[in-house]
Amino acid sequence: MEQLFSSVYQKFCELKFKNGNLGSLLSQTAELLHSEISHYDWVGFYILDSQNDMLVLGPYTGAPTEHTHIPIGKGICGQVAENKKTMVVQDVSQQDNYLACSLDVQSEIVVPVLKNGLFVAEIDIDSHAHAPFKIEDEMFLMAISDQLAELF
Ligand code: SME
Repeated sequence: MEQLFSSVYQKFCELKFKNGNLGSLLSQTAELLHSEISHYDWVGFYILDSQNDMLVLGPYTGAPTEHTHIPIGKGICGQVAENKKTMVVQDVSQQDNYLACSLDVQSEIVVPVLKNGLFVAEIDIDSHAHAPFKIEDEMFLMAISDQLAELF
């Protein structure tokens, strides 16, 4: 598994090197993570709209979601925007402050993108597996988040 993460991270770095445009890098990153990591069933980015205290859905792969705009503090995504800390939810049925996208989703990890300590966006991953996320997922996604932060 660790080898998978390091090879996907390498591919991500190549995409970043070739791609100066943030929007297309986010789309390609969502595609990459979704296609290479089997327990990542929905991969997307929410971007902060600071004027409206709202998260706005950016590029994603997986089933369409009704949650295109999420107020800060609402759901797992909104909590991460508020607290600026990664949330790993191994069983979404145990989370009270949760916005359901599909009945297939069993678990979720959300990692903030921080630019000079300020929240600017987040990586959101849903899984159809129960409790699939390990510390390696967190480390991998935090490394990607750090790279993306440079482009915001
Ligand atoms: N489940 C998220 C909402 C976004 S979807 O996962 C795409 C939440 O509780 O914030």
